[in-house]
Amino acid sequence: MASRLPAALRSALIAAAVLGLFAVLGSLLVGFSYQATAERIQQNEREILLAQLNAILPENEYDNDLLQDTLDISAPQALGTEHTRVYLARHDGKPVAMILSPVIAQGYSGDIALTLGIRNDGSLAGARVLNHKETPGLGDKIEVERSSWILGFTGRRLGDPPESRWKVKRDGGAFDQFTGATITPRGVMRAIRQALLWYRDRGHRLLETETMEEAHHD
Ligand SMILES: Cc1cc2nc3c(=O)[nH]c(=O)nc-3n(C[C@H](O)[C@H](O)[C@H](O)COP(=O)(O)O)c2cc1C
Repeated sequence: MASRLPAALRSALIAAAVLGLFAVLGSLLVGFSYQATAERIQQNEREILLAQLNAILPENEYDNDLLQDTLDISAPQALGTEHTRVYLARHDGKPVAMILSPVIAQGYSGDIALTLGIRNDGSLAGARVLNHKETPGLGDKIEVERSSWILGFTGRRLGDPPESRWKVKRDGGAFDQFTGATITPRGVMRAIRQALLWYRDRGHRLLETETMEEAHHD
């Protein structure tokens, strides 16, 4: 049958078939490399996130998979946002701490997203700024890369200092503000204090949440 086709048509058909084959091979290749790249990006993102969490809670303090042991909660009044992810840290199955992200503070130029770690005794494992729009040279001293101010909260809890002194010094509290920039640190402090109050009154119960595997055994 093919031999009865005019030579020109035959070579056109062959060319079309070869082109089609390359098109299929090409899109398969793009598909595979997209898949591989997407997986690598996801893996990188997981590693970056874990490094951020470990900066607040050192990895030798827990032995569960922090990125899997999570809860999504909504406590907008206390945590400043509709959606906060809670990472539960456990050691030998016992709750050690939780990391909340994000907790939203109000700064000079709007939202400041924070990640906070709270140990089961209510003390702050650490706080870090995820993102903000504060003024460079004034409000951006909340970043750990710019000043050690945010590290001053580590290990503190309600009671240390007393609850009434969880304020910047300008407001009669125990924590420094920045020269010429009180609004930003005041907002961050308020958010941290609110989160600690939330933990004391309600949040600590989340540490009693079982892991998925344990829940299935019951
Ligand atoms: C252009 C501009 C940008 C400012 N950015 C900030 C800021 O990012 N954070 C902040 O706390 N104050 C900022 N301020 C200063 C506040 O308006 C306010 O004066 C200050 O926070 C009050 O602190 P103080 O009482 O210690 O002076 C800025 C002021 C100006 C004019």
